[in-house]
Amino acid sequence: MNFKAVLIFSLFAVFFDTAFANTECVWATGKVICQKNQTLVLNTIVELFDLDSPQGMNLKNPLDPDDKVAFTQVDEEDGIFQIEGCASDQDWIPGIKNQPEMYFRVFHFCNKPNGEYKYIWPIFRVFVPTTYDKHIEDPIILDD
Ligand SMILES: *[C@@H]1O[C@H](CO)[C@@H](O)[C@H](O)[C@H]1NC(C)=O
Repeated sequence: MNFKAVLIFSLFAVFFDTAFANTECVWATGKVICQKNQTLVLNTIVELFDLDSPQGMNLKNPLDPDDKVAFTQVDEEDGIFQIEGCASDQDWIPGIKNQPEMYFRVFHFCNKPNGEYKYIWPIFRVFVPTTYDKHIEDPIILDD
């Protein structure tokens, strides 16, 4: 290969590398409810994660943990939150889009004064410009 061929090959490599990394942004809004006492939703932390290992798998790869994309705190008793962030996933098979798989993890005080985590499944793939607002109509219930 001459120099020119190497250069062109390198440019293609950079181009494809960029093209196969897939970045998507999320705009989400939702509502948390604590039926036993709605005041207890205050200070709930809602985190947005990008799932990198198969859903429901108990053993996570420690070298590739799920990526935390964003977090927000509930500071009104209505339990409404808004969260936004971006995630990128590598497309392992060229031409097949590997969209980020998003889910919420909620840290809340509805049942225990010291707080606990709740994972909200299933994952969703709703990205900008669409707002993911499923949990406005269908609030996240924190009670046991
Ligand atoms: C609800 O929780 C708040 C905060 O802990 C407490 O001050 C209030 O008394 C509770 N209300 C009821 C009806 O238990």
